[in-house]
Amino acid sequence: MAVKKTLKIFLIGLIILWVISLIVARLLLPVANPDKRNALPDWLSDNSKASIKRSCFDCHSNEVVYPWYSYMPVVSMLVAVDVKKGRKNLNFSLWDENDFQGIRRDFDDVLEVINEDTMPLSIYTILHPDTIFSRSEYISLINDYEGYLKLNQTK
Ligand code: HEC
Repeated sequence: MAVKKTLKIFLIGLIILWVISLIVARLLLPVANPDKRNALPDWLSDNSKASIKRSCFDCHSNEVVYPWYSYMPVVSMLVAVDVKKGRKNLNFSLWDENDFQGIRRDFDDVLEVINEDTMPLSIYTILHPDTIFSRSEYISLINDYEGYLKLNQTK
């Protein structure tokens, strides 16, 4: 009997903890998609848009997809911090508010972090290995960007 009772208390405790961690996660995680804007500029090829969307949008856009484990205790904290910091540094969803200088500043940084392999964050690529930028994707980005710079410098 005693074992049964202990097990019952343990299970109830577990459920309570799980509910609390879900509530905490909901409070911590930034809203997944506050608006449906997608402001990736037209000078990016469709392939480059798709690569950026795949590799960077979870932290650098308003279009975040939270997998189930991001609601787990501790994980929710880590994810929340990355998304908040990521969006603050660079938010592709708000790129249409960026002027030529701003886009150049941002995109120089984008190329740099991809080239140096510092982005996407390694804690993220361990779980999502398919988000690592390939060399050919990187070269395509540079080509798109050079086309854009040329167009704007002749204006
Ligand atoms: C898992 C979340 C995550 C992903 C995915 C991610 N980033 Fe970041 N990124 C961050 C965080 C967090 C910071 C802020 C780092 C800091 O404050 O130290 C950041 C910062 C940056 C910065 C500014 C850093 C600097 O040194 O100027 C750039 C540029 C950037 N990321 C580009 C990218 C690009 C491009 C991709 C996709 C290839 C990407 N990030 C994917 C989380 C992420």
